[in-house]
Amino acid sequence: MVSLLELTLQLSRASDMVSPELNNHQRQVAYIAYNLGEELNFDKKKLNEVSVAGILHDVGGLSMQERISVLKFEAINPHKHARIGWLLLKDYREFAEIARIIKFHHVDWDYGAGLRYEGEVVMQESHLIHLADRIATLISHEDKIINQVDRIIKKIKSTSGRKFNPEYVQAFEQLKDKEFFWYDLESISSGRNFYKKIKFKDQNLDIDELIGITKLFARVIDFRSNFTAVHSEGVSAVAKRLAQHQGCDELTCKKIQAAGYVHDIGKLTVSKEILEKPAALTKAEFSIMKEHTYHTYVLLCQVKGLEEINEYASMHHERLDGSGYPFKLKREELSLGARIMAVADIFTALSENRPYRKGMKKEEVVEILERMAADNKIDAEVVKTLINNYHDVTEIRIKSQKKARIRYNDFAKLLV
Ligand SMILES: [Fe+2]
Ligand SMILES: [Fe+2]
Ligand SMILES: [Fe+2]
Repeated sequence: MVSLLELTLQLSRASDMVSPELNNHQRQVAYIAYNLGEELNFDKKKLNEVSVAGILHDVGGLSMQERISVLKFEAINPHKHARIGWLLLKDYREFAEIARIIKFHHVDWDYGAGLRYEGEVVMQESHLIHLADRIATLISHEDKIINQVDRIIKKIKSTSGRKFNPEYVQAFEQLKDKEFFWYDLESISSGRNFYKKIKFKDQNLDIDELIGITKLFARVIDFRSNFTAVHSEGVSAVAKRLAQHQGCDELTCKKIQAAGYVHDIGKLTVSKEILEKPAALTKAEFSIMKEHTYHTYVLLCQVKGLEEINEYASMHHERLDGSGYPFKLKREELSLGARIMAVADIFTALSENRPYRKGMKKEEVVEILERMAADNKIDAEVVKTLINNYHDVTEIRIKSQKKARIRYNDFAKLLV
């Protein structure tokens, strides 16, 4: 059993790692929102929801530039990433409410008129996130947070009514005198674990539910760029099919499927600017890119019950002769699931169409895979299984990626 909240926190962490400037922004906002909610006597359900909305509120900021630009107190055009966040999350049942809160988290109070925006109802919770978010953006990394309280409260009060619900600003005024609040914010990544207090849907996920949420994660990971839009869907489907052909039991196949969905979660730490760079990457950029599997590993490590899936997901750039990265593992240290994932990743990357090139033909793909197997880079047996079932595996890949592409196109249409 895996906790939905623990998993969600890792998605949040990953997306805040894209720049040190973000400094755990989403977790800070979640913490502020939770405490404001307590001051306002929100019931438990509302408290949990504003916390989770805080954790994910900027997940729709697809580029690093966009993430950083909305850290300015008077952000310009802040609604786009809020809307994208809503789009990414809304279809997953457990996040439906959260998505609605996120959609309007930059709507000003406007002396009460902000209860509606573009003909839609804006939830109170959105206004709470709005205030929490702006408090967080006023925090400077230059000084202890506790020394900044007067400045922050002054700024918030000066815009009360126009930007924020005055009732919420009042709650903030009560909260500001509690030292622990500021200390906790200062040590958000290492301090007391306030998440223990959140009971999001009380939910522990079984393997099928886990597949549902990791599939959603794949969308958040892949949809940042047209270049990667359907990659994880393909890898997941191919890896699962290869595992079936290798004779793995059903549970293992499902774990491999889930691992495929999140194998590139560490890529959330790589900026869209690098992901989509039209020219060759510089050495520094390449080393950022290369780090992604390390981050996948560290992020998934934080989630209890995900050990095996992590093992399958994070080792996809290791090579049997120890020449891969980042752990330099050798054949005997790599599980079958990890060896399958490496083949699935390479096969999918070579075969899939990208906006700037067509996927390779069978002959070319087979030649590359066979050479890599002969060089003791990837598992020869898994490669043989793939070649023996080439048509079947390819069909599965195309089918899953076609579906994902339709979803992506719908999504991309709404971005403009
Ligand atoms: Fe935002
Ligand atoms: Fe934010
Ligand atoms: Fe990768």
